Amino acid sequence: MKNTVAIILAAGEGTRFKSETPKVLHKIFGKMIIERVSEIVDGFDKKIIVVGHKSELVKKSISDKNVIFVEQNKQLGSGDAVKQTEKVLKNFTGDLVILSGDVPLLKKETVGKLLAVHKKEKAVASVITCEMENPSHYGRIIRNADGTVKAIVEAKDASDEIKKIKEINSGIYVFSAKELFSALHKIKNDNSKGEYYLTDVISILNREKRKIIGYKISDFREISGINNRYELAAAENYMRDKVLENLMISGVTIVNPSTVYVEETVEIERDTTIMPSTIIKGKTKIRSGCVLGPFSYIEDSIIDKNVEIRASFVYGAEIAADVKIGPFSHIRKETKIGRSARIGNFSEIKKSSIGENTKVSHLSYIGDSQLGKNINIGAGTITCNYDGKNKHKTEIGDYTFVGSNTNLIAPVKIGRGVLIAAGSTITHDVPDNKLAIARERQVIKRLKVKSSVRED
Ligand code: UD1
Ligand code: CA
Repeated sequence: MKNTVAIILAAGEGTRFKSETPKVLHKIFGKMIIERVSEIVDGFDKKIIVVGHKSELVKKSISDKNVIFVEQNKQLGSGDAVKQTEKVLKNFTGDLVILSGDVPLLKKETVGKLLAVHKKEKAVASVITCEMENPSHYGRIIRNADGTVKAIVEAKDASDEIKKIKEINSGIYVFSAKELFSALHKIKNDNSKGEYYLTDVISILNREKRKIIGYKISDFREISGINNRYELAAAENYMRDKVLENLMISGVTIVNPSTVYVEETVEIERDTTIMPSTIIKGKTKIRSGCVLGPFSYIEDSIIDKNVEIRASFVYGAEIAADVKIGPFSHIRKETKIGRSARIGNFSEIKKSSIGENTKVSHLSYIGDSQLGKNINIGAGTITCNYDGKNKHKTEIGDYTFVGSNTNLIAPVKIGRGVLIAAGSTITHDVPDNKLAIARERQVIKRLKVKSSVRED
């Protein structure tokens, strides 16, 4: 946005959070509150964040290279916080958008509309307002007869008459920079909190006959501040509901949505069904026709068409079409599972590729392995990939049948079309089309004690 600078106020402690971690660093729906606020003003000429309480920690936590940090050493109030930015805004004559670091649900479009109104009306200040049934601790908007804004009065300093006003200050403003800084030099801290209120510049500008616009919006949630963990959970619920609503509208079936958590970064195609108690996070992409859950956790994974994932954990994996996973499978990072493969109960796959139609159906651990297609891995097969120091690889060729309860001591290479007898411990490579058997031969011996002695 040309000739527009954003200032985000985030120096306050957030006492009501009762936390060692600064409020703005708490996560809402997978991202820090301050990150979400900062994203609202992506594309502005400059982004300034005013930091104070635990400023080093806040600065360290924000990776956005476009942000300029300004310190407010003592938290003397929101007006004092804005004043600190004057030194980095010398000669700036454009518009300043001011946001609170604790109001993350605000939409980019709403800020755009506020700026448009501000310009159209040729105002020096414009503020987003909202009518609230219970305006409690919010500052109240006092209007002039012509509808422009006369003053903002903080709840703590308001008379009973003013407290009855339902129109509140959102704490989101646009100011013409020059006029704002000149007014900020005139504010005092003679109020109930002993703070320099940013809101006091409104009555100063009004007395100077400057035009101040109140831009009223209808959805109070967009501007609600997060002051404690209850409000954090409520705001997160609101965001989560919106994501699920959009998915359902776009053709995804969600059974019992109140138990489902899908982050907004996730992409899901139509005709996929999400069953109850399922969590889908990060950069996950899911194609159509899948059934996910009940009770599944999927993160940073690519899931092709018609995949079933029941009661399982899948992260950092790529799953091809028609694969069936679960119940109770654990698919870990850097795993690729080929078309129509089957991973069953209590099987864990780590950093491995599993070929088409291969089955790992019961109680197996497959790590650092490359498995071809049409392989059958018998129940209880373990790739012994770790020698206490290093990880080693296992390779298995197409059409091989691994009998139940086999140990494959890596590094080891099993060829194509091999048959491994159940219960084997394989320590050497097996060539194609051979039978490997590596267990003690069964012996039958005469009993020294008659079996009748042991029978009751
Ligand atoms: C503020 C407004 C109030 C409005 C409400 C909307 C003032 C005086 N009041 O009240 O009219 O209805 O927001 O949410 O502005 N901050 C600093 N340094 C300070 C003090 C505050 O950076 O010295 C920051 C805080 O971190 C926060 C923002 O300014 O992000 C607002 O401060 P806060 O104390 O939360 O003000 P409210 O009482 O909520
Ligand atoms: Ca607040």
